[in-house]
Amino acid sequence: MSKLRTTFFCQNCGANSAKWVGKCPSCGEWNTYVEEVVQKEKEEVAAWKPSGLPARNVPRRIQDIKGEKLDRYSSKDGELDRVLGGGIVHGSLVLIGGEPGIGKSTLMLQIAVQLSEKKVLYVSGEESLQQIRMRADRIGIKSDNCFLLSETSLGEIFNQIGGLEPDILVIDSIQTLHSSHLDAAPGSISQVRDCAAQLMRFAKESDTPVFLIGHITKEGSIAGPKVLEHMVDTVLQFEGDRHHIYRILRTTKNRFGSTSELGIYQMQEDGLREVANPSEILLSADNDNPGVAIGSTIEGNRPLLIEVQALVSPATYGTPQRSTTGFDVKRLHMLLAVLEKRMGLRLGIQDVFLNITGGIRVDDPSLDLAVCAAVFSSYQDMAIPREICFIGEIGLGGELRSVNRLENRIKEAEKLGFKQVYLSASKEKLTQQVIQHPHKTLRAVFEDLFG
Ligand code: TYD
Ligand code: MG
Repeated sequence: MSKLRTTFFCQNCGANSAKWVGKCPSCGEWNTYVEEVVQKEKEEVAAWKPSGLPARNVPRRIQDIKGEKLDRYSSKDGELDRVLGGGIVHGSLVLIGGEPGIGKSTLMLQIAVQLSEKKVLYVSGEESLQQIRMRADRIGIKSDNCFLLSETSLGEIFNQIGGLEPDILVIDSIQTLHSSHLDAAPGSISQVRDCAAQLMRFAKESDTPVFLIGHITKEGSIAGPKVLEHMVDTVLQFEGDRHHIYRILRTTKNRFGSTSELGIYQMQEDGLREVANPSEILLSADNDNPGVAIGSTIEGNRPLLIEVQALVSPATYGTPQRSTTGFDVKRLHMLLAVLEKRMGLRLGIQDVFLNITGGIRVDDPSLDLAVCAAVFSSYQDMAIPREICFIGEIGLGGELRSVNRLENRIKEAEKLGFKQVYLSASKEKLTQQVIQHPHKTLRAVFEDLFG
């Protein structure tokens, strides 16, 4: 027996230390260190062993290495192809994170059965084969080439891979795997890291794409594994509001493509459907109540029209409330302060509620003007005509700042039938059909809009 060895790991960032520490010196979190056993076993354990590799790896001149174009193939899912940067890359390790119940298993199973000409091995440590079969029936696509395995031991998974030789491997989820190299519990930092490292080696050496599903912590990061994010080639976040049907697949890291891509799906009774024209569905049909404003934003590389709803009402309890869904509450505080100081609105005695419709989250600052317009409209109880759209970031002085890719944003608004756009005055020559109202300040916008 080898000696029992333990190490303390930060459950937040994966840093380790021989002794327990209260505050992680690496990420600054408190009370995150947990002791894990990292005993090396003496006996032979199944691990990925490459075959046919050169006996020794030697340095090679960069010029001698063939710079072929990345070898990709389509996943038969337009949105996934888009976020991966054009398709599945051979030998890539992709991590898909998301909250429980958002649809990660559904998405991966759907890809697995859709790609019927590839041999896909779907390994689940969370659900029984019957449950997965029932889900596949629900999705309603049949494939003769999709294999299921209910297993949590990584060694056993590698044994099965040896016999089956799949073209694609899906692991649902990385937190359920355990490697017999270590004694730590499944889901602990050391297990997750070790399993991911072995899967990485497998992906690179066998040239097989591997998809890992990962859980997300309350704080929204992929559980434990900040370490994981460093190791894998691509990190995709599957997000959305569980009570809405829309889901967004976002690239947060991609070694093979851009990180500003976005895929949009609709969760239906029979699986996930791609959404070809997201703007249309994010706008409610005919809402001309006070407090509603439409902004044109860019999410990823796609222009997207977003409906902002605000409700401003007198605060009945001591401290006024500010609450948002889909928008950063700190940014709302800032915008309310600008409205109060520069426009003289008395918002200090009002509750303010802000909603982005459709259950999606927006970080694009060009939505500022639409947010202010919605708040102003609700405060004054005056509706904004439905044919108007807003584009602009707002500075602390109440000035309108220009935003990038104005042309695309206006085009999207035009496409959806908007007749007028309020935006910042810029030097860019714009040639669209819609009536443009360029302004320098928030005050000028509202004077023009409400007279
Ligand atoms: P699931 O893939 O199990 O989520 P995750 O793996 O991220 O935890 O998806 C769970 C939800 O999706 C579940 O609440 C049911 C719903 N769903 C549908 O609405 N339609 C479908 O066709 C399927 C398969 C699931
Ligand atoms: Mg699942």
